[in-house]
Amino acid sequence: MPEKEINRGGPLGVEIGGLRLKNPILAASGTFGYGLELAPFCPPEALGAVITKGLSLEPWPGNPPPRVVEAAFGLINAIGLENVGLGTFLEKYLGPLKATGATVGANVLGRKPEDYVRLSGGLARSEVDFIELNVSCPNLRHPGGLSFGSDPGTLAFIVEGSVKAAGGKPVMVKLPPLVTDIVALAKIAEDKGAAAVSLINSLPALSIDLGTRRANLANGPGGLSGPPIKPLALRQVMLCSRALSIPVIGLGGIMDYRDALEFIVAGATAVQIGTGLLVDPTLPIRVIKDIALWLKKNNLKDLSEVRGSLKV
Ligand SMILES: Cc1cc2nc3c(=O)[nH]c(=O)nc-3n(C[C@H](O)[C@H](O)[C@H](O)COP(=O)(O)O)c2cc1C
Repeated sequence: MPEKEINRGGPLGVEIGGLRLKNPILAASGTFGYGLELAPFCPPEALGAVITKGLSLEPWPGNPPPRVVEAAFGLINAIGLENVGLGTFLEKYLGPLKATGATVGANVLGRKPEDYVRLSGGLARSEVDFIELNVSCPNLRHPGGLSFGSDPGTLAFIVEGSVKAAGGKPVMVKLPPLVTDIVALAKIAEDKGAAAVSLINSLPALSIDLGTRRANLANGPGGLSGPPIKPLALRQVMLCSRALSIPVIGLGGIMDYRDALEFIVAGATAVQIGTGLLVDPTLPIRVIKDIALWLKKNNLKDLSEVRGSLKV
């Protein structure tokens, strides 16, 4: 697809919380750095949006290595939420990324629920286009042992406070995948003012070295991502998109345009690519082109003819 066609959006354009994205392909948090590291392979301005690495109030050093291991045709990571912190992101990273013309979502994470509200407040007057609340990280735990987003009361507190603090910027809530009732949690996010929900995050997992009888990651457990999690993600996207009136953003194991289209058929408004980007940093650009070709080949005007068309 010629660059100007990508920029115009055309039949691939989507809207999330009043924000117009030129196409539905987003870079997932944690796999595209702060947006410019992979620019020679994947220009950030060609994507629907770039979601930057999860930010905390203060810089975090992350876990000791090894932090990533291949497993079950996917990846297990325990990066430990290494990041430069909100202040450095705003001072050094956001300006150059926005200068490319990219639409930018900032992914945030807290050690405690109040941190999300403070982070959203800190981003309210920045150039960030939207905020994604990571309340589902397998490496972050509520004192009760659950991720923040698994506890209805904590989720409600975080979303309500963050939406108020965000000063009108759309707030996307990245929900935890391992819960009994994903729709109930998604509805809490919607009721408390979320502009969209995104799912799924990586799944709590463990990889073992039989020789040493140790975990392959220094942290022990980590988060499983990539193709093995796609079927679970598709089901949650289908359930949530049928129950909510806000957009659902799907992710988990997207490795080509067919995977992306399956999420849209399940009801996703847009999708994110994570592990696939680590395998091939040019992948999102190819997926955008291939979806446009597929629409043409099937005589479809735009993605609204595909979205949520799953027959069950
Ligand atoms: C190395 C790595 C780092 C990640 N860091 C974050 C993060 O900072 N915040 C977040 O919300 N998700 C993070 N994720 C999860 C991804 O954004 C995504 O939800 C998950 O990997 C599933 O998508 P995928 O199968 O396309 O990778 C990370 C994933 C990987 C592989």
